[in-house]
Amino acid sequence: QTLEMALESIEKGGYEHFMLKEIFEQPRSILDSMRGRMIAESDHLMMSGIREYENKFVNAKRIIIVACGTSWHAGLVAEYLIEDFARIPVEVEYASEFRYRNPIITEDDIVVAISQSGETADTLAAIELAKSKGATIFGICNVVGSSIARATDAGAYTHAGPEIGVASTKAFTAQVTVLALIAMIIGSKRGTLEETKLRQLMVELETIPAKVEKCLLLDDQIKEISAKYKDATNFIYLGRGYNYPVALEGALKLKEISYIHAEGYPAAEMKHGPIALIDEQMPVVVIATKDSSYEKVVSNVQEVRARKGKVIAVVTEGDTTIPSMADYVIEIPETSEHLMPLLSVIPLQLLSYHIAVMRGCNVDQPRNLAKSVTVE
Ligand code: G6P
Repeated sequence: QTLEMALESIEKGGYEHFMLKEIFEQPRSILDSMRGRMIAESDHLMMSGIREYENKFVNAKRIIIVACGTSWHAGLVAEYLIEDFARIPVEVEYASEFRYRNPIITEDDIVVAISQSGETADTLAAIELAKSKGATIFGICNVVGSSIARATDAGAYTHAGPEIGVASTKAFTAQVTVLALIAMIIGSKRGTLEETKLRQLMVELETIPAKVEKCLLLDDQIKEISAKYKDATNFIYLGRGYNYPVALEGALKLKEISYIHAEGYPAAEMKHGPIALIDEQMPVVVIATKDSSYEKVVSNVQEVRARKGKVIAVVTEGDTTIPSMADYVIEIPETSEHLMPLLSVIPLQLLSYHIAVMRGCNVDQPRNLAKSVTVE
């Protein structure tokens, strides 16, 4: 027992929990996920798994993404990226729904399965179904040689390294990194992504690990905010555009490890229901970084204020508008809106982590959850 405990503390590398260690590993795991695939300076952008199926991707009529949990959220980010850069229609499906609803799948479709463990039963069943209908199956897995990795025609690994904490953190940012590279590659091959824009994105993506490092410096501030809201019974997370999947992911993280009920919503949908929940007891986490939907999000923040909700806002450094309306402001570095999920998710991971620790929850092994769900 004591030997086991000693080994575990070595594996945690000085961190109190695996989850915290994995959150802090993200500058490295994101870098590892682009290593060898992209070098902005020499215009190098290549993925062997895509090259093999380049024509399929370029001519695809549709891309269907299947995944579960956090991987499904990475899939939602990919929908925005691929439609934006490559102009191919994308559908993002919960693997468990897809496999049971007699979906229309053709030989011109590419099905992209996203899975950290590569063992999720529903995702595996979804790809077997798609395969039987003749679709090309592309996998994005973290675990080398996993069942899903073996069942696909081609794929790209995320190089996040082993993820032990049940709540996924570094696997998500690694998935988004790989999916951004894929969207950029297909967009450039299809000629739908301009050279100059592609080059800007490559340069910007290379700066992300250093910017994630800056986000991690917010840890102490986020701990203070966590102390204020640790006893809340509900949370709402709002975001628009590329930050909408991040709002879902932030809410999922909080539910998973702190057992606080949380809802993630696209900010504009708030008026169609969740706004009724807002009162002075309700913390609302708003991701309001400077992007094309910023002005709209500002008015969503005002709507929350008007109902006395507590606003915790994640904003771009130097923002002067939101701080006057929010109870707490978390400033993160600027980046292209397409890559913002890689930064905006970091404070939300830290917030859920600290709240869970303060509530005495077992963050690495939350009740009722498993790291990989191999049953349906
Ligand atoms: C479980 C885990 C989640 C994970 C989901 C999908 O529910 O607890 O953290 O996001 O499975 O797992 P996968 O390995 O397929 O990404």
